[in-house]
Amino acid sequence: MPRVAKLRINGAEVPLDADAVRSLLSVLRDDLGLTGAKYGCGEGACGACTVLIDGEATRSCITAVGGVADGEITTIEGLERDGELHPLQQAFLDHDAMQCGYCTCGMILAGAAFLKKNAAPARDDVVRELNGNICRCGAYPRIIAACLQAAGKMREREPAAQQR
Ligand code: FES
Repeated sequence: MPRVAKLRINGAEVPLDADAVRSLLSVLRDDLGLTGAKYGCGEGACGACTVLIDGEATRSCITAVGGVADGEITTIEGLERDGELHPLQQAFLDHDAMQCGYCTCGMILAGAAFLKKNAAPARDDVVRELNGNICRCGAYPRIIAACLQAAGKMREREPAAQQR
């Protein structure tokens, strides 16, 4: 059975010994203690487990760890830079855009990937993009407001912020 001996996570090479067919979510949470990504549906439908693979929002519950062994993985634990929160993390705090918090990490990573591609989204763009990330508390209005605020902040800080 093929195994994965290392991953590149949040800018560092991390050794491990995992069966290649295991889910990335399981390896992150159970082997590496990175518990920001959450197990929600376990079938790619809710977005709670979202991480970034080479900058793309990816559902880690349905991603085999062997398939991303060469990728750059970013989890919520690695989104800040030099002690400064990503603008979307800060905007979530500013707008109190979480209630139970279960969806929050996946929502922020999906939003961060989106804002990197679309620096000036309209409200409808945010709604459409985050449509697949489920918030069971119904904090959507605050989540959308946070995304729009972060987009504005990131535009102000261009080009540096757009590189994150
Ligand atoms: Fe992965 Fe729901 S837990 S999409």
